[in-house]
Amino acid sequence: MCGIMGYVGDREATSILLDGLRRLEYRGYDSAGISTLDSNRKIHVVKDVGKVEQLAQKAELSGLRGIAGLAHTRWATHGGVTMLNAHPHLSCNREVTIVHNGIIENYLELRRDLDAKGHLFVSDTDSEVIAHLVEAVYRNKKDVLPALTDVVRQLKGAYAFAAILADAPNVMVGARQDAPLVVGLGNGENFLASDALAFIGHTDRVIFLDNRELVLLTEKNVTIYDFEGNVKQKPATQIAWELGSVSRREFEHYTLKEIHEQKETVLQALRQDPRSVDVFVDALERAGKVYITGCGTSFHAALLAKLLFTTYAKIPVEVLLSSEFDQYEELLDKKALLIAVSQSGETADVLSAVKAARKMGVKVCSIVNAMGSTLVRESECTLLNNCGPEIGVAATKSFTSQLMIFNMLALRLGQREAELSDLWSTGRLVEKTLGLDAQIQEIADRLHVANDFYFVGRSLHHPLALEGALKLKELSYIHAEGMAAGELKHGSLALISEGVPVVVLNPEDGTYGDTLSNASEVKARGGRIIGVSTKPSKVYDEYIEIPVAAPNIYPVLEAVPLQMLAYYAAVSRQQNPDYPRNLAKSVTVK
Ligand code: M6R
Repeated sequence: MCGIMGYVGDREATSILLDGLRRLEYRGYDSAGISTLDSNRKIHVVKDVGKVEQLAQKAELSGLRGIAGLAHTRWATHGGVTMLNAHPHLSCNREVTIVHNGIIENYLELRRDLDAKGHLFVSDTDSEVIAHLVEAVYRNKKDVLPALTDVVRQLKGAYAFAAILADAPNVMVGARQDAPLVVGLGNGENFLASDALAFIGHTDRVIFLDNRELVLLTEKNVTIYDFEGNVKQKPATQIAWELGSVSRREFEHYTLKEIHEQKETVLQALRQDPRSVDVFVDALERAGKVYITGCGTSFHAALLAKLLFTTYAKIPVEVLLSSEFDQYEELLDKKALLIAVSQSGETADVLSAVKAARKMGVKVCSIVNAMGSTLVRESECTLLNNCGPEIGVAATKSFTSQLMIFNMLALRLGQREAELSDLWSTGRLVEKTLGLDAQIQEIADRLHVANDFYFVGRSLHHPLALEGALKLKELSYIHAEGMAAGELKHGSLALISEGVPVVVLNPEDGTYGDTLSNASEVKARGGRIIGVSTKPSKVYDEYIEIPVAAPNIYPVLEAVPLQMLAYYAAVSRQQNPDYPRNLAKSVTVK
């Protein structure tokens, strides 16, 4: 879960790569670096710990010349956050530079062999082994393609890497095995990156590499091979993401911008190709048993989906955490349908669950935001979130898009025509809810000093309570727990003392009265109640009013104030909400 990028063309590479790194920073921000190959066939590297902006400030960067280069933004796995562990890495004779995303499982073994042959390693990373291996193999073969096929034959693990060799100027190579890698086809220039966002300002024509594929790029040509060195013909795809949608516009952070975009993105989620919806619905109708899997926020969307499918379509559903999938594999049989939910489509836990299911002959459909991602290609049918790139590490608009898609499927299966058409009112209702911004900022300003927060709700509001807690932890680092409101009295009530904030999700639906009683029980023990509801009550110390809506729409509306609370608590605590510590957007390791 790092971001890699490469450029080969007729322009100076550094500023193009730096711009790409800024767009890839969501993938990791422990360190960043750029390497270029100059016209004298010398490789130069500039790197630094910290975020891309820190790298951008380095004076040496302006002297970095070359029309071919690599760039990397790191989320540390092997080796601490240090300058030496930052990418790009070099081989010992500075003949090869590489950037890598993923894990080389057999790096210790390879490193021992290379050590024995006299290679000097300077970092603690698994990645550096690739640079030395390419150098060693190329020295014998003197030909890039055979060297590359030999290298990938020796590497084990999940990886994507790009390399430039001083001896093969203006050729860039890349390889993909279980980590994303996309080629960008320009005019007299070509790109390689973990995500098309990195180069979308230069071209929208891309080729998504599949597992066990290699690529050789020059400024004019792109040739793709399998790991055995056979040429593969692959069509280019035109991607639609607008450059404008990756700017922060007038917002201070991407997270806030993405929260505000939800008035449109909830409707975008409904604008699906009718044939794709038919295929999805058909798969659900034919399935012997339906399972849904995901991680983090996507898992919370899956929990809500279970309730929607049960209530509106009378379809029983099991929700399985992708990271725990191994425990349940035996439950699956060939008649089952697995729905995998993922914003990125690259989460290793999700992909591993999908792989296991497919191996057992289970049909896999997915709900994904990143088109062209591995999950889309591993699924028999997919519905895309259509919410545009989500840069903030916290899932916001992708979550509400997932909720909208699940709503649409459940209502369609249950033939609930009135509720289906009512879904189109969600954009207007979300817009109204966004008006809570100033009030929530003010609440966060007052309550950000709390050590603990609790979030409670029943039924459809329970997954939202879990999500509210995850969001607050992730962005503000305040300890938070979400739970079913009725469970408080079974233990957690012991934690409530004077002034402990408890967010109660309680619009007027079938759960209203019971949840209000639970809120009163908390208040009687000194808890500070923040009621998210459609109806004021003297039980609430703070009242956040959301618009009246159909019960199935409330979770979407509740998501908005919960996201804002987490965002503003982070800002009040002077944390950068776009880049929470220790996290990265795509979790491509298990
Ligand atoms: O890309 P995915 O939806 O598969 O990601 C799953 C989780 O890693 C993700 O939702 C994570 O929990 C977010 N940072 C939550 O805001």
